[in-house]
Amino acid sequence: MGRKFFVGGNWKCNGTVEEVKKIVATLNDGKVVEQDIVEVVVSPPFVFLPLVQSLLRSDFLVAAQNCWVKKGGAFTGEISAEMLVNLGIPWVILGHSERRSLLSESNEFVGDKVSYALSKGLKVIACVGETLEQRESGLTMDIVAAQTKAIADRISDWTNVVIAYEPVWAIGTGKVATPGQAQEVHFELRKWLKEQVNPDVAESVRIIYGGSVNGANCQELAEQPDVDGFLVGGASLKPEFLDIINSAT
Ligand code: G3H
Repeated sequence: MGRKFFVGGNWKCNGTVEEVKKIVATLNDGKVVEQDIVEVVVSPPFVFLPLVQSLLRSDFLVAAQNCWVKKGGAFTGEISAEMLVNLGIPWVILGHSERRSLLSESNEFVGDKVSYALSKGLKVIACVGETLEQRESGLTMDIVAAQTKAIADRISDWTNVVIAYEPVWAIGTGKVATPGQAQEVHFELRKWLKEQVNPDVAESVRIIYGGSVNGANCQELAEQPDVDGFLVGGASLKPEFLDIINSAT
């Protein structure tokens, strides 16, 4: 069976109740390709998760943007995987580059989070990607492989994992990777999975692209054989998110 196209909308730290309701209304009114062609997951800030979940069309699901690395307890400000499960939140984004860089989340810490979240029954969008400096030094695959290895070392079942390749230099910059650049990394990452994990995982795991995806550039990216969807930031707050969903191939 082929890999089902996956489109995630990461709303990051944006929105008010009114704005969130407006975005959801736009999504609910939108005409999109069928559910067996594309899987859509939107990720509002924690505080809006129950609201969005209650209003959102039933063919779209929700994701949290992070969760704690182990069982909850005396960890002020954190949200545990158990809490997300308790609320019926099916997905969580982990290892986003903004958290890796601004909050110093290491590869190992992200790997531990992925492992714990999966063990509690959450599905995980695990983010990897290089900085501009790393790319210019020819280190792209070394960085992406090290980030993925920290996850691979800690999990054995990849069924509930989607990998989001998000080059840091393309995030929120308007500087999207070319379809060729995205395809090259996705291909190399799949090859790495084949050699270091196993061929079945390489064949079945979805590798989605993130970084300045919008309604105008999504189609060409979506046509790349190893691009299985998108993780969209800024454009997921706008009606063009529907066009991105409909780029599903
Ligand atoms: O999680 C999404 C990515 O950080 C991409 O964000 O589409 O605003 O560049 P962006």
